[in-house]
Amino acid sequence: MIEVIQGDITRLSVDAIVNAANELMLGGGGVDGAIHRAAGTELLDACRQVPEVRPGVRCPTGTCRITPAFDLPSRFVIHTVGPIWHGGGRGEAELLASCYRNSLCLAASHGFASLAFPAISCGIYGYPNDQAAEIATRTIRSVLSPQMSLQRIVLVAFEAPMVVVLQRAVSSQPDAPS
Ligand code: APR
Repeated sequence: MIEVIQGDITRLSVDAIVNAANELMLGGGGVDGAIHRAAGTELLDACRQVPEVRPGVRCPTGTCRITPAFDLPSRFVIHTVGPIWHGGGRGEAELLASCYRNSLCLAASHGFASLAFPAISCGIYGYPNDQAAEIATRTIRSVLSPQMSLQRIVLVAFEAPMVVVLQRAVSSQPDAPS
């Protein structure tokens, strides 16, 4: 149900990949930059069409938006915005959990069978990797149910050390009985 791989999320052929975006949703560095480069300029056009909920904000932190994936091998991109790490006292854990929960629910509402996540907030946004991995696996397990369309959740580590962190988090919480 939950698998950990090391690699580049832009190369995965799944129903949707999750993008660790920012609230403006016009691209950036890290995985956001990689996804936009691989998807092509139509992705930026699609992001621009997402309405701003307030000036400069298309996707508030903790929420998600969906666009087609254009030149990517996956079919859709679910853009979510993780919290910037400020030490843990500003609701970061709940906001990060919301990214995973909302992305899973949006994918399930579209009937997707497969969904891949990068390590949201673990790069430029500075979230401690082990805490983020634990939140990711705990939230995914709490949301997934056998009745949902989602059969394959992939946690993608770009760098090798993150593979170990994610695998430890996945194995520390056994899969819920199906
Ligand atoms: N495939 C999978 N994972 C990747 C890839 C890739 N091609 N490129 C980077 N990563 C990993 C990073 O190593 C990190 O573990 O994604 C994780 C998230 O890091 P960031 O991309 O920096 O995302 P985040 O920490 O959430 O910061 C978001 O960065 O790129 C900007 O526009 C983005 O402002 C936003 C901020």
